[in-house]
This record gives sequence, C-alpha cells and structure tokens, in this order.
Amino acid sequence: MGLPFIDSVISRKRDQMMAVDLGSRTTKAVCVKRRGQGFALCGFTLLDAPIYEKTLPPELLSEHLKAIAQALRPTTKYVSLTAGVNDAQVRHADLPRMPVHDMRMVLKLNTKNYLQQDLPNHVFDCHVSTRAQQPKPSDKPTDPASSQKHRVLVAAARQQFVKDFVQGAKGAGLVADFIVPSLIGPVNTFEKAMPEVFAKEAVALVDIGFKNSSICILLEGELIITRVVGIGGDKLTNGVAEALSISYAEAEGIKIGMPSEIQPQLESLLIPLGRELRASIDFFEHQQDRPVSRVFVTGGSARSEFIVQKLQQELMVECKILNPMTFLQMQLPPQQIAEIEQVAPQLTVALGAALAAL
Ligand SMILES: Nc1ncnc2c1ncn2[C@@H]1O[C@H](COP(=O)(O)OP(=O)(O)OP(=O)(O)O)[C@@H](O)[C@H]1O
Ligand SMILES: [Mg+2]
Repeated sequence: MGLPFIDSVISRKRDQMMAVDLGSRTTKAVCVKRRGQGFALCGFTLLDAPIYEKTLPPELLSEHLKAIAQALRPTTKYVSLTAGVNDAQVRHADLPRMPVHDMRMVLKLNTKNYLQQDLPNHVFDCHVSTRAQQPKPSDKPTDPASSQKHRVLVAAARQQFVKDFVQGAKGAGLVADFIVPSLIGPVNTFEKAMPEVFAKEAVALVDIGFKNSSICILLEGELIITRVVGIGGDKLTNGVAEALSISYAEAEGIKIGMPSEIQPQLESLLIPLGRELRASIDFFEHQQDRPVSRVFVTGGSARSEFIVQKLQQELMVECKILNPMTFLQMQLPPQQIAEIEQVAPQLTVALGAALAAL
C-alpha cells in the first residue's frame, strides 16, 4: 500500500530504497534492498527528531536528511518519507470504479461529497484493495449500484506539506519518491512479516508512538478500521514523573530501564490507552461479527515487553510485540547486528514506508 501523494510516482518498483519515518520524538531510517525474491536490510539509524513549531521547514528537513544520509550512507538517492497522523488523514470512501488518477481528481473536486469534509488545497491518493476489485458473491451482474462503487482507502495531505517535503529532500540531494502516511506503515510491514496471518485472520496492529498511538484493524488482508488515540510514550513518562515527583529524564530512564519498579503507575497510565483501543476493537467485532484474534504492537514503547504485557491486561486479547524483521535478510554493518533485535519494533513504520516503494 503506497498512497504516495506524489503525481510523478512511477509504477516501476525500485531495487533499493531509503525510508525515513519522521516521528514526533524519534526519526527512524532504514535502507532496504531487493535480494532475489526477497529483501535485505542494509542499515538503520535512529536520531532525535528536529524541533520545530507547527510545520517542519524544508531547510530543517534538508539538514536532518543530510545527517541521516551521513549515518546510513545510502547507495540510492530515492527516499520514502512518512507523513505523521497530524499531516496525513487516512479514510475510507465509496468511489465509482475508475483509474486511481481519476479518483484523485474526483476527490479533489468533490471532497465534501466523498469525505464529508472540505479539505481545500489538499492532495489526495487512493488505494483500491484487491478484495474490493473482485466482485462479491452477493453482487448481481445486473445490480448497477454494486458495479459502480467500491470501497477505497483515501489519504489526504496539504499540498504545501507535500511540496515542503519534496523541497526538503531536494535540499539534501535526495529525491522524495514516496510520502506514505505513517498509519499505513505497520500494515505494509505486517503483510510481509506474517503473510499467512495477514491473509487469513482478523488482527489489530497497534503502534504506540510518542504523542499518538494508532490502531489498524485488518480482516483477511483488508484494512477495515483505522483510529488515532492521543496517548503515547510521552504521556507514560510524564505520568510517571508526576506520580513520583521526579524529573522527566529520570522517569524516562526508569521506564526504559526498570519498568517493573513503576508497575502501578504504568498500569494506571495504560488504562485510558487500553480503553480507547478496546473501543475500536469492540466496534470492529460488532460490525464484522468476527473477533480480533491477536494484537501486534509496534513503536518505541513496544521495545518494552512489560508495557505490552500490561496493555494485554487492558485489552483482554493476546498482545504480541511484532517482529518486523522475519522476512528480511540481514546485511547490516557488524556493530548494528547486536542492536537490531532491540530496536526492531520501533523500525516498523520506516520499513513499511520502504516497502511501499519496493
Ligand atoms: N525500551 C523502551 N521501553 C519503553 N518505552 C520506550 C523504549 N524505547 C523507547 N521508548 C519510548 O518510545 C517513544 C518513542 O517512540 P516512537 O519512536 O515510536 O515515537 P515517534 O514515532 O517519534 O512518535 P509518533 O509516532 O507519535 O510521531 C518514547 O516515548 C520513548 O520513551
Ligand atoms: Mg511513530
């Protein structure tokens, strides 16, 4: 799934890709190459996100991308960037059957009609699931309504935001080939990491970020529900700092190093997140009449087994840390091999952004 916003995206797949997930706290970048029928991870890096007010200025993005390129030393100039949950909206819409290029234009001209909201000066992109392309058994050949419309995943971003990203990449000597909504990242990675489960089960992918967390609920390979919850690692650290009257930095250190010491605090801080995520799962289960069999957790907080266990208590459904590396050959520099297992769940979105282009 790409939803890349960029007009000139070539349908030809790339051989290698650098992908940069611009998180609100931590930037995660990966280099992925095709290897035979599969893929290899050639490098990764984590950097503090640049600090800015409302929007990331292109010059600052260029500087940041230069620093990333220096760490990664990519052998390609093409980069796939992520657009965070505040910069790209992801929705479902029922659209007439037509080529994606036309859909994008139709959405631009009739936004309110299809997305129930005006979004001036936005660009749109669409993904038509393979399931939606196949006629349903219930579709009668003579039923004009079913043959005219199908459910499409739509992403929308401000035109200026896309322009700034393209310019920011250019300033670093790179070409922004894709801009992928970060929400979609875990879905792309999950498809490759666990293809059987992806194709057959009803699962939820939960990415716990810094400011926000997201949930994507998939049914047999189709993305049914997406939701963003304004709770992430930042709230956990802040809550611990407040409860124990210690500094943010101290609380962060304990959360990462000795989470069992702050078990009661973490448990109570995870209740609101669990409740919001559970509500989305309940909604899905009711709508689809199908239970969610498992939840796979990604993002920085998924580096903590402890946090994921506590979330499982709240959600009352099996929660596992997603290992996004299962399908990748490792071609990492020796010093990164020891680190990758630890960092892996936090790289899920960056990997998904790379896979969109490969
Ligand atoms: N080992 C760990 N245990 C618990 N939390 C961790 C660990 N490592 C990182 N984190 C937390 O992960 C958070 C950052 O996660 P992540 O990189 O997924 O966020 P982000 O992508 O920058 O944010 P967003 O997705 O909201 O834009 C921080 O709050 C940090 O405290
Ligand atoms: Mg993130």
